[in-house]
Amino acid sequence: MSISQIEKSKEERYQSLIKVIESLLCGEGRDIIADMANVSAAIHSEFGFWWTGFYRVVGNELVLGPFQGPVACTRIAKGRGVCGTSWAQERTIIVPDVDQFPGHIACSSESRSEIVVPVYSNDEIAAVLDIDSQYLNTFDEIDAKYLEQIVSML
Ligand code: SME
Repeated sequence: MSISQIEKSKEERYQSLIKVIESLLCGEGRDIIADMANVSAAIHSEFGFWWTGFYRVVGNELVLGPFQGPVACTRIAKGRGVCGTSWAQERTIIVPDVDQFPGHIACSSESRSEIVVPVYSNDEIAAVLDIDSQYLNTFDEIDAKYLEQIVSML
């Protein structure tokens, strides 16, 4: 199987996941916590990541939001760890090897690679989506592209 076929199948998985999330988020009475809970569960169950969840901006720090996976640290300062850096630098961050990221916050020793995607509301970052993998080099630009699309639906 060529690399392009592998990538295509990941793209196809994201494309069908996006259809599922569209249907989850189309109902009346949207609630951001409920929507984050279902989005984290939908991503987590499709790909079987180690940890999938949100940290919400509350004042000058990130506070743990809806997630799937083991327990995690509850508060992260702006600029700290991968999540706080994504917020401070206002960009998606892909970390192929968490041991190589200065200041990485190890909520779990099982986590080996990570992606953090900012969630915008009215042009401001309101949360970040954080996904951890037990394997090195799990995330790439395809994950970034589709995860950015997914969080824009919130
Ligand atoms: N590793 C993250 C902290 C959150 S946990 O992985 C769930 C970081 O460095 O921001």
